[in-house]
Amino acid sequence: MSERENCRLVLVLFPLQGHINPMLQLATILNSRGFSITIAHPQFNSPDPSNHPNFTFLPIPDGLSKSSFAAQDFHSTMLAIHRNCQEPLRHFIQQMLEQKDPQGRVACIIYDAVMHFAQKVASQLNLPSINVRTSAAVSMLAFAAFPRVNEQGYITFTDSLIQDESTKLQSLDLRDLLITMGENPSDSTLELRAATTSANRNSRATIVNTIHFLEEEILPKIQSYFHAPIFAIGPFHKLAPSSSSSLLKEDTGCISWLDKQVSRSVLYVSFGSMAGLNEEQLLETAMGLAMSEQPFLWVVRTSSACRTEWLELLPKEFQEIIGQRGFVVKWAPQKEVLAHGAVGGFWTHCGWNSTLESICEGVPMLCWPVFGDQGLDAKYISHIWKIGLELEAKLERGKIAGAIRRLMVEEEGEVIRQKAQAFKERAEQSLDVGGSTNTSLNELVEFILSFQP
Ligand code: UDX
Repeated sequence: MSERENCRLVLVLFPLQGHINPMLQLATILNSRGFSITIAHPQFNSPDPSNHPNFTFLPIPDGLSKSSFAAQDFHSTMLAIHRNCQEPLRHFIQQMLEQKDPQGRVACIIYDAVMHFAQKVASQLNLPSINVRTSAAVSMLAFAAFPRVNEQGYITFTDSLIQDESTKLQSLDLRDLLITMGENPSDSTLELRAATTSANRNSRATIVNTIHFLEEEILPKIQSYFHAPIFAIGPFHKLAPSSSSSLLKEDTGCISWLDKQVSRSVLYVSFGSMAGLNEEQLLETAMGLAMSEQPFLWVVRTSSACRTEWLELLPKEFQEIIGQRGFVVKWAPQKEVLAHGAVGGFWTHCGWNSTLESICEGVPMLCWPVFGDQGLDAKYISHIWKIGLELEAKLERGKIAGAIRRLMVEEEGEVIRQKAQAFKERAEQSLDVGGSTNTSLNELVEFILSFQP
Protein backbone atom coordinates (compact mmCIF):
# COMPACT_ATOMS: atom_id res chain seq x y z
CA MET A 1 0.00 0.00 0.00
CA SER A 2 1.34 3.46 -0.93
CA GLU A 3 2.02 6.15 1.65
CA ARG A 4 -1.10 8.02 0.54
CA GLU A 5 -3.49 5.06 0.44
CA ASN A 6 -2.39 4.36 3.97
CA CYS A 7 -3.51 7.86 4.86
CA ARG A 8 -7.22 8.32 5.59
CA LEU A 9 -8.77 11.76 5.70
CA VAL A 10 -12.06 12.38 7.50
CA LEU A 11 -14.00 15.22 5.85
CA VAL A 12 -16.78 16.77 7.95
CA LEU A 13 -19.66 18.22 5.90
CA PHE A 14 -22.20 20.92 6.69
CA PRO A 15 -25.51 19.69 5.25
CA LEU A 16 -26.58 22.45 2.86
CA GLN A 17 -26.24 22.29 -0.92
CA GLY A 18 -23.84 25.24 -1.16
CA HIS A 19 -21.51 23.49 1.31
CA ILE A 20 -22.03 19.83 0.31
CA ASN A 21 -21.01 20.50 -3.32
CA PRO A 22 -17.57 21.99 -2.63
CA MET A 23 -16.76 19.55 0.19
CA LEU A 24 -17.51 16.49 -1.95
CA GLN A 25 -15.54 18.05 -4.80
CA LEU A 26 -12.61 18.52 -2.41
CA ALA A 27 -12.93 14.89 -1.28
CA THR A 28 -12.83 13.81 -4.94
CA ILE A 29 -9.70 15.89 -5.55
CA LEU A 30 -7.89 14.44 -2.53
CA ASN A 31 -9.00 10.92 -3.44
CA SER A 32 -7.60 11.42 -6.94
CA ARG A 33 -4.29 12.26 -5.26
CA GLY A 34 -4.34 8.86 -3.56
CA PHE A 35 -5.82 9.54 -0.12
CA SER A 36 -8.53 7.30 1.38
CA ILE A 37 -11.66 9.29 2.24
CA THR A 38 -14.31 9.09 4.96
CA ILE A 39 -17.20 11.55 4.72
CA ALA A 40 -18.70 12.37 8.13
CA HIS A 41 -22.04 14.14 7.70
CA PRO A 42 -25.16 14.95 9.74
CA GLN A 43 -28.07 12.66 8.82
CA PHE A 44 -30.08 15.62 7.56
CA ASN A 45 -29.61 16.14 3.79
CA SER A 46 -27.39 13.05 3.54
CA PRO A 47 -25.37 12.87 0.35
CA ASP A 48 -26.00 9.81 -1.84
CA PRO A 49 -23.16 7.31 -1.24
CA SER A 50 -23.87 5.60 -4.58
CA ASN A 51 -22.49 8.70 -6.34
CA HIS A 52 -19.17 8.22 -4.55
CA PRO A 53 -18.32 4.51 -4.46
CA ASN A 54 -14.70 5.23 -3.42
CA PHE A 55 -15.68 6.96 -0.19
CA THR A 56 -16.78 5.58 3.18
CA PHE A 57 -19.78 7.49 4.60
CA LEU A 58 -20.25 8.12 8.29
CA PRO A 59 -23.74 9.47 9.12
CA ILE A 60 -23.74 11.43 12.40
CA PRO A 61 -26.99 11.49 14.44
CA ASP A 62 -28.04 15.17 14.46
CA GLY A 63 -31.41 15.15 16.23
CA LEU A 64 -32.88 17.27 13.43
CA SER A 65 -35.90 16.58 11.30
CA LYS A 66 -36.51 18.29 7.96
CA SER A 67 -39.32 20.32 9.51
CA SER A 68 -37.27 21.46 12.47
CA PHE A 69 -34.57 22.61 10.06
CA ALA A 70 -37.05 24.63 8.02
CA ALA A 71 -38.85 26.07 11.04
CA GLN A 72 -35.83 27.41 12.88
CA ASP A 73 -33.59 30.16 11.72
CA PHE A 74 -30.43 29.14 9.94
CA HIS A 75 -28.03 29.96 12.75
CA SER A 76 -30.09 28.30 15.49
CA THR A 77 -30.19 25.17 13.38
CA MET A 78 -26.48 25.33 12.94
CA LEU A 79 -26.04 25.64 16.70
CA ALA A 80 -28.27 22.57 17.15
CA ILE A 81 -26.02 20.62 14.78
CA HIS A 82 -22.99 21.74 16.75
CA ARG A 83 -24.63 20.70 20.01
CA ASN A 84 -25.79 17.32 18.77
CA CYS A 85 -22.99 16.13 16.51
CA GLN A 86 -19.78 16.79 18.41
CA GLU A 87 -19.90 13.81 20.78
CA PRO A 88 -21.00 11.23 18.15
CA LEU A 89 -18.28 12.48 15.79
CA ARG A 90 -15.64 12.10 18.50
CA HIS A 91 -16.95 8.63 19.35
CA PHE A 92 -16.91 7.42 15.72
CA ILE A 93 -13.42 8.69 14.97
CA GLN A 94 -12.08 7.28 18.20
CA GLN A 95 -13.50 3.89 17.16
CA MET A 96 -11.80 4.24 13.77
CA LEU A 97 -8.49 4.93 15.50
CA GLU A 98 -8.91 1.95 17.84
CA GLN A 99 -9.91 -0.44 15.07
CA LYS A 100 -6.70 0.18 13.15
CA ASP A 101 -8.51 0.50 9.83
CA PRO A 102 -6.62 -1.62 7.24
CA GLN A 103 -7.53 1.01 4.61
CA GLY A 104 -5.49 3.68 6.27
CA ARG A 105 -4.94 5.37 9.57
CA VAL A 106 -6.82 8.62 10.15
CA ALA A 107 -4.19 11.26 9.46
CA CYS A 108 -6.26 14.38 9.69
CA ILE A 109 -9.76 15.87 10.09
CA ILE A 110 -10.70 18.28 7.32
CA TYR A 111 -13.85 20.17 8.24
CA ASP A 112 -16.18 22.75 6.74
CA ALA A 113 -15.31 25.91 8.69
CA VAL A 114 -18.84 26.28 10.07
CA MET A 115 -18.60 22.77 11.59
CA HIS A 116 -16.03 24.28 13.96
CA PHE A 117 -16.60 21.68 16.71
CA ALA A 118 -14.65 19.21 14.54
CA GLN A 119 -11.51 21.15 15.48
CA LYS A 120 -12.20 20.41 19.16
CA VAL A 121 -12.78 16.74 18.33
CA ALA A 122 -9.45 16.64 16.48
CA SER A 123 -7.68 18.20 19.39
CA GLN A 124 -9.28 15.76 21.89
CA LEU A 125 -8.08 12.86 19.73
CA ASN A 126 -4.65 14.35 19.15
CA LEU A 127 -5.23 14.64 15.42
CA PRO A 128 -4.30 17.57 13.21
CA SER A 129 -7.19 19.51 11.68
CA ILE A 130 -7.57 21.62 8.55
CA ASN A 131 -10.54 23.89 8.02
CA VAL A 132 -12.15 24.51 4.66
CA ARG A 133 -13.71 27.76 3.51
CA THR A 134 -16.40 27.05 0.98
CA SER A 135 -16.86 30.81 0.55
CA ALA A 136 -14.37 33.45 -0.59
CA ALA A 137 -11.18 33.77 1.48
CA VAL A 138 -12.15 37.32 2.42
CA SER A 139 -15.08 35.92 4.39
CA MET A 140 -12.53 34.63 6.93
CA LEU A 141 -11.61 38.22 7.69
CA ALA A 142 -15.26 39.23 7.69
CA PHE A 143 -15.98 36.57 10.30
CA ALA A 144 -12.98 37.60 12.37
CA ALA A 145 -13.57 41.32 12.07
CA PHE A 146 -17.09 41.73 13.12
CA PRO A 147 -16.96 40.72 16.78
CA ARG A 148 -14.92 43.89 17.13
CA VAL A 149 -17.63 46.23 15.94
CA ASN A 150 -18.02 48.85 18.67
CA GLU A 151 -21.21 50.41 19.98
CA GLN A 152 -21.18 53.22 17.44
CA GLY A 153 -21.11 50.71 14.64
CA TYR A 154 -17.46 51.31 13.71
CA ILE A 155 -15.03 48.48 13.31
CA THR A 156 -12.24 48.71 15.81
CA PHE A 157 -9.53 46.50 14.48
CA THR A 158 -7.34 45.90 17.47
CA ASP A 159 -5.24 43.42 15.60
CA SER A 160 -1.98 45.08 14.59
CA LEU A 161 -1.84 43.32 11.27
CA ILE A 162 -5.04 44.86 10.06
CA GLN A 163 -4.55 48.13 11.88
CA ASP A 164 -1.33 49.04 10.18
CA GLU A 165 -2.69 48.41 6.71
CA SER A 166 -4.34 51.21 4.79
CA THR A 167 -8.10 50.97 5.11
CA LYS A 168 -8.33 49.32 1.72
CA LEU A 169 -8.06 45.62 0.99
CA GLN A 170 -7.95 45.16 -2.76
CA SER A 171 -10.01 48.39 -3.05
CA LEU A 172 -12.48 46.99 -0.55
CA ASP A 173 -13.26 49.26 2.35
CA LEU A 174 -12.93 47.30 5.56
CA ARG A 175 -16.40 48.52 6.43
CA ASP A 176 -17.65 46.42 3.51
CA LEU A 177 -16.84 43.35 5.55
CA LEU A 178 -19.84 44.24 7.67
CA ILE A 179 -22.15 43.52 4.76
CA THR A 180 -21.94 39.85 5.64
CA MET A 181 -23.36 40.46 9.08
CA GLY A 182 -26.83 41.71 8.18
CA GLU A 183 -28.46 44.63 9.98
CA ASN A 184 -29.35 43.00 13.28
CA PRO A 185 -27.09 40.03 13.89
CA SER A 186 -28.53 37.57 16.38
CA ASP A 187 -26.57 36.20 19.31
CA SER A 188 -26.36 32.87 17.49
CA THR A 189 -24.72 34.62 14.51
CA LEU A 190 -22.17 36.24 16.79
CA GLU A 191 -21.53 32.96 18.55
CA LEU A 192 -21.05 31.11 15.28
CA ARG A 193 -18.58 33.64 13.93
CA ALA A 194 -16.54 33.78 17.09
CA ALA A 195 -16.38 29.98 17.35
CA THR A 196 -15.51 29.60 13.66
CA THR A 197 -12.71 32.14 13.93
CA SER A 198 -11.34 30.52 17.05
CA ALA A 199 -11.36 27.06 15.45
CA ASN A 200 -9.71 28.60 12.42
CA ARG A 201 -6.88 29.90 14.56
CA ASN A 202 -6.40 26.49 16.16
CA SER A 203 -6.29 24.54 12.91
CA ARG A 204 -3.06 23.58 11.22
CA ALA A 205 -4.07 25.09 7.88
CA THR A 206 -6.95 26.39 5.79
CA ILE A 207 -8.09 25.20 2.39
CA VAL A 208 -10.05 27.78 0.40
CA ASN A 209 -12.15 27.27 -2.70
CA THR A 210 -10.74 30.34 -4.39
CA ILE A 211 -8.25 31.14 -7.12
CA HIS A 212 -5.15 33.08 -6.17
CA PHE A 213 -5.59 35.89 -8.70
CA LEU A 214 -9.10 36.63 -7.44
CA GLU A 215 -7.95 37.45 -3.92
CA GLU A 216 -4.21 37.95 -4.30
CA GLU A 217 -3.95 40.91 -1.90
CA ILE A 218 -6.04 39.33 0.80
CA LEU A 219 -4.60 35.82 0.90
CA PRO A 220 -1.21 36.76 2.40
CA LYS A 221 -2.94 38.96 4.99
CA ILE A 222 -5.18 36.11 6.03
CA GLN A 223 -2.24 33.78 6.24
CA SER A 224 -0.43 36.05 8.68
CA TYR A 225 -3.61 36.82 10.59
CA PHE A 226 -4.36 33.16 11.25
CA HIS A 227 -0.70 32.13 11.60
CA ALA A 228 -1.17 29.02 9.45
CA PRO A 229 -0.72 28.09 5.82
CA ILE A 230 -3.58 28.81 3.47
CA PHE A 231 -4.04 26.68 0.36
CA ALA A 232 -6.05 28.37 -2.40
CA ILE A 233 -6.89 25.37 -4.55
CA GLY A 234 -10.09 26.45 -6.27
CA PRO A 235 -12.07 26.20 -8.39
CA PHE A 236 -12.80 22.77 -6.88
CA HIS A 237 -15.49 21.97 -9.44
CA LYS A 238 -13.01 22.18 -12.31
CA LEU A 239 -10.64 19.77 -10.56
CA ALA A 240 -13.47 17.35 -9.78
CA PRO A 241 -15.82 17.65 -12.77
CA SER A 242 -17.41 14.24 -12.23
CA SER A 243 -18.43 14.90 -8.61
CA SER A 244 -22.21 14.77 -8.36
CA SER A 245 -23.98 15.92 -5.21
CA SER A 246 -27.24 17.61 -6.15
CA LEU A 247 -29.94 17.13 -3.50
CA LEU A 248 -32.65 18.02 -6.03
CA LYS A 249 -33.30 16.35 -9.38
CA GLU A 250 -31.75 18.33 -12.21
CA ASP A 251 -34.05 19.10 -15.15
CA THR A 252 -31.84 18.42 -18.17
CA GLY A 253 -34.61 19.44 -20.60
CA CYS A 254 -33.24 22.98 -20.45
CA ILE A 255 -30.05 21.88 -22.24
CA SER A 256 -31.99 20.84 -25.38
CA TRP A 257 -33.81 24.19 -25.18
CA LEU A 258 -30.46 26.04 -24.89
CA ASP A 259 -29.20 24.10 -27.94
CA LYS A 260 -31.81 25.96 -30.00
CA GLN A 261 -30.89 29.46 -28.81
CA VAL A 262 -28.54 31.99 -30.38
CA SER A 263 -24.97 32.12 -29.04
CA ARG A 264 -24.57 34.23 -25.85
CA SER A 265 -28.21 35.38 -26.02
CA VAL A 266 -29.73 33.68 -22.94
CA LEU A 267 -29.85 35.11 -19.43
CA TYR A 268 -29.65 32.34 -16.82
CA VAL A 269 -31.52 33.28 -13.62
CA SER A 270 -31.00 31.38 -10.36
CA PHE A 271 -30.79 32.37 -6.72
CA GLY A 272 -29.16 29.20 -5.40
CA SER A 273 -30.54 26.67 -2.99
CA MET A 274 -31.84 28.90 -0.20
CA ALA A 275 -32.87 32.42 -1.26
CA GLY A 276 -36.54 32.89 -2.15
CA LEU A 277 -38.77 35.55 -3.71
CA ASN A 278 -41.94 37.04 -2.24
CA GLU A 279 -44.96 37.69 -4.46
CA GLU A 280 -43.95 41.23 -5.38
CA GLN A 281 -40.36 40.23 -6.20
CA LEU A 282 -41.61 37.34 -8.28
CA LEU A 283 -43.82 39.63 -10.32
CA GLU A 284 -41.13 42.28 -10.82
CA THR A 285 -38.61 39.60 -11.82
CA ALA A 286 -40.99 38.12 -14.37
CA MET A 287 -41.93 41.49 -15.84
CA GLY A 288 -38.30 42.61 -15.87
CA LEU A 289 -37.39 39.49 -17.84
CA ALA A 290 -40.28 40.18 -20.20
CA MET A 291 -39.26 43.82 -20.77
CA SER A 292 -35.59 42.93 -21.35
CA GLU A 293 -36.53 41.14 -24.57
CA GLN A 294 -33.71 38.65 -23.98
CA PRO A 295 -34.32 34.88 -23.92
CA PHE A 296 -34.07 33.52 -20.37
CA LEU A 297 -33.72 30.27 -18.43
CA TRP A 298 -35.17 30.75 -14.95
CA VAL A 299 -34.79 28.39 -11.98
CA VAL A 300 -37.81 28.68 -9.68
CA ARG A 301 -37.45 26.14 -6.88
CA THR A 302 -40.90 25.16 -5.67
CA SER A 303 -39.95 26.30 -2.20
CA SER A 304 -38.33 29.53 -3.41
CA ALA A 305 -41.52 31.07 -4.72
CA CYS A 306 -44.22 32.21 -2.36
CA ARG A 307 -46.64 29.50 -3.47
CA THR A 308 -46.37 26.33 -5.44
CA GLU A 309 -48.83 27.63 -8.03
CA TRP A 310 -46.54 30.65 -8.52
CA LEU A 311 -46.91 30.71 -12.29
CA GLU A 312 -50.61 31.43 -11.93
CA LEU A 313 -49.77 34.59 -10.00
CA LEU A 314 -48.14 36.05 -13.08
CA PRO A 315 -49.92 37.94 -15.85
CA LYS A 316 -51.04 35.94 -18.87
CA GLU A 317 -48.71 37.94 -21.13
CA PHE A 318 -45.73 36.58 -19.18
CA GLN A 319 -46.92 33.03 -19.59
CA GLU A 320 -47.06 33.65 -23.34
CA ILE A 321 -43.51 35.01 -23.26
CA ILE A 322 -42.31 31.81 -21.59
CA GLY A 323 -43.66 29.96 -24.62
CA GLN A 324 -41.80 32.30 -27.01
CA ARG A 325 -38.40 32.88 -25.44
CA GLY A 326 -38.28 31.56 -21.90
CA PHE A 327 -37.75 28.26 -20.11
CA VAL A 328 -38.49 27.64 -16.43
CA VAL A 329 -37.18 24.73 -14.36
CA LYS A 330 -37.29 23.78 -10.69
CA TRP A 331 -33.59 22.88 -10.59
CA ALA A 332 -31.01 23.07 -13.38
CA PRO A 333 -27.73 21.29 -14.11
CA GLN A 334 -26.12 24.67 -13.38
CA LYS A 335 -22.51 23.98 -14.29
CA GLU A 336 -23.60 22.56 -17.65
CA VAL A 337 -25.91 25.53 -18.21
CA LEU A 338 -23.19 28.09 -17.52
CA ALA A 339 -20.79 26.24 -19.82
CA HIS A 340 -23.35 26.28 -22.65
CA GLY A 341 -22.49 28.62 -25.55
CA ALA A 342 -26.03 30.06 -25.63
CA VAL A 343 -25.71 31.56 -22.14
CA GLY A 344 -24.52 35.17 -22.15
CA GLY A 345 -25.38 36.37 -18.64
CA PHE A 346 -26.17 35.09 -15.15
CA TRP A 347 -28.56 36.88 -12.82
CA THR A 348 -27.35 35.47 -9.51
CA HIS A 349 -27.69 35.86 -5.74
CA CYS A 350 -23.86 35.65 -5.69
CA GLY A 351 -23.51 32.49 -3.60
CA TRP A 352 -19.81 31.67 -3.77
CA ASN A 353 -20.26 28.45 -5.76
CA SER A 354 -22.38 30.22 -8.34
CA THR A 355 -19.85 33.05 -8.51
CA LEU A 356 -16.93 30.69 -9.16
CA GLU A 357 -18.92 28.59 -11.63
CA SER A 358 -19.79 31.72 -13.61
CA ILE A 359 -16.23 33.06 -13.56
CA CYS A 360 -14.91 29.75 -14.90
CA GLU A 361 -17.21 29.98 -17.93
CA GLY A 362 -16.61 33.67 -18.62
CA VAL A 363 -20.27 34.56 -17.99
CA PRO A 364 -20.85 38.16 -16.76
CA MET A 365 -23.14 38.49 -13.74
CA LEU A 366 -26.09 40.55 -12.67
CA CYS A 367 -25.81 40.59 -8.89
CA TRP A 368 -28.72 40.48 -6.49
CA PRO A 369 -27.25 39.39 -3.15
CA VAL A 370 -29.69 38.22 -0.47
CA PHE A 371 -27.81 37.32 2.73
CA GLY A 372 -24.50 36.40 4.34
CA ASP A 373 -21.38 36.43 2.18
CA GLN A 374 -23.39 37.18 -0.96
CA GLY A 375 -23.20 40.99 -0.49
CA LEU A 376 -19.43 40.83 -0.25
CA ASP A 377 -19.22 38.61 -3.34
CA ALA A 378 -21.43 41.09 -5.21
CA LYS A 379 -19.07 43.95 -4.29
CA TYR A 380 -16.15 41.99 -5.67
CA ILE A 381 -17.98 41.09 -8.87
CA SER A 382 -19.28 44.56 -9.64
CA HIS A 383 -16.79 46.98 -8.05
CA ILE A 384 -13.46 45.20 -7.80
CA TRP A 385 -13.27 42.60 -10.55
CA LYS A 386 -15.78 44.51 -12.72
CA ILE A 387 -17.23 41.38 -14.30
CA GLY A 388 -20.83 42.23 -13.47
CA LEU A 389 -23.38 44.80 -12.40
CA GLU A 390 -25.23 45.07 -9.11
CA LEU A 391 -29.00 45.47 -8.95
CA GLU A 392 -30.67 47.46 -6.21
CA ALA A 393 -32.16 45.35 -3.41
CA LYS A 394 -35.70 46.49 -4.26
CA LEU A 395 -36.55 44.79 -7.51
CA GLU A 396 -38.22 47.00 -10.12
CA ARG A 397 -39.07 45.72 -13.57
CA GLY A 398 -37.72 48.74 -15.52
CA LYS A 399 -34.40 48.71 -13.69
CA ILE A 400 -34.10 44.94 -14.11
CA ALA A 401 -34.73 45.14 -17.85
CA GLY A 402 -32.24 48.03 -18.23
CA ALA A 403 -29.54 46.17 -16.30
CA ILE A 404 -30.03 42.96 -18.31
CA ARG A 405 -29.66 44.85 -21.58
CA ARG A 406 -26.60 46.73 -20.33
CA LEU A 407 -24.97 43.49 -19.21
CA MET A 408 -25.75 41.45 -22.29
CA VAL A 409 -26.22 43.60 -25.37
CA GLU A 410 -25.48 47.28 -25.01
CA GLU A 411 -22.13 48.84 -25.82
CA GLU A 412 -21.74 49.97 -22.19
CA GLY A 413 -21.47 46.34 -21.07
CA GLU A 414 -18.80 45.36 -23.58
CA VAL A 415 -15.93 46.03 -21.15
CA ILE A 416 -17.62 43.83 -18.54
CA ARG A 417 -18.19 41.03 -21.05
CA GLN A 418 -14.56 41.15 -22.18
CA LYS A 419 -13.28 41.19 -18.61
CA ALA A 420 -15.43 38.15 -17.74
CA GLN A 421 -13.86 36.32 -20.68
CA ALA A 422 -10.37 37.28 -19.51
CA PHE A 423 -11.18 35.94 -16.04
CA LYS A 424 -12.17 32.61 -17.55
CA GLU A 425 -8.75 32.38 -19.21
CA ARG A 426 -6.95 33.25 -15.98
CA ALA A 427 -8.98 30.63 -14.10
CA GLU A 428 -7.95 28.03 -16.68
CA GLN A 429 -4.29 29.03 -16.38
CA SER A 430 -4.39 28.48 -12.62
CA LEU A 431 -5.09 24.79 -13.26
CA ASP A 432 -2.11 24.29 -15.59
CA VAL A 433 1.12 22.77 -14.34
CA GLY A 434 2.90 25.64 -12.59
CA GLY A 435 -0.38 27.57 -12.22
CA SER A 436 -1.33 28.81 -8.74
CA THR A 437 -3.96 26.17 -8.02
CA ASN A 438 -1.87 23.31 -9.32
CA THR A 439 1.13 24.41 -7.26
CA SER A 440 -0.91 24.99 -4.13
CA LEU A 441 -2.56 21.58 -4.43
CA ASN A 442 0.82 19.86 -4.69
CA GLU A 443 1.92 21.73 -1.58
CA LEU A 444 -1.24 20.72 0.28
CA VAL A 445 -0.64 17.03 -0.51
CA GLU A 446 2.91 17.26 0.87
CA PHE A 447 1.63 19.15 3.90
CA ILE A 448 -0.89 16.41 4.73
CA LEU A 449 1.68 13.67 4.21
CA SER A 450 3.92 15.43 6.72
CA PHE A 451 1.34 14.55 9.44
CA GLN A 452 2.13 10.84 9.11
CA PRO A 453 3.57 9.42 12.33
C1 UDX B 1 -25.04 28.96 0.34
C2 UDX B 1 -24.97 30.48 0.51
O1 UDX B 1 -26.16 31.09 0.11
C3 UDX B 1 -23.80 31.03 -0.22
O2 UDX B 1 -23.79 32.44 -0.08
C4 UDX B 1 -22.55 30.44 0.34
O3 UDX B 1 -21.44 31.01 -0.33
C5 UDX B 1 -22.61 28.95 0.17
O4 UDX B 1 -23.78 28.45 0.79
P1 UDX B 1 -26.38 28.70 -2.04
O5 UDX B 1 -27.29 29.80 -1.67
O6 UDX B 1 -27.02 27.43 -2.38
O7 UDX B 1 -25.22 28.46 -0.96
O8 UDX B 1 -25.55 29.24 -3.31
P2 UDX B 1 -24.27 28.74 -4.06
O9 UDX B 1 -23.05 28.91 -3.23
O10 UDX B 1 -24.26 29.44 -5.34
O11 UDX B 1 -24.47 27.18 -4.29
C6 UDX B 1 -25.50 26.64 -5.05
C7 UDX B 1 -25.03 25.38 -5.72
O12 UDX B 1 -26.18 24.71 -6.24
C8 UDX B 1 -24.09 25.63 -6.89
O13 UDX B 1 -23.04 24.68 -6.88
C9 UDX B 1 -24.96 25.44 -8.12
O14 UDX B 1 -24.28 24.91 -9.23
C10 UDX B 1 -26.01 24.47 -7.62
N1 UDX B 1 -27.28 24.68 -8.33
C11 UDX B 1 -28.01 25.81 -8.15
C12 UDX B 1 -27.70 23.70 -9.20
O15 UDX B 1 -27.02 22.67 -9.39
N2 UDX B 1 -28.88 23.89 -9.85
C13 UDX B 1 -29.65 24.99 -9.69
O16 UDX B 1 -30.72 25.07 -10.31
C14 UDX B 1 -29.20 25.99 -8.81
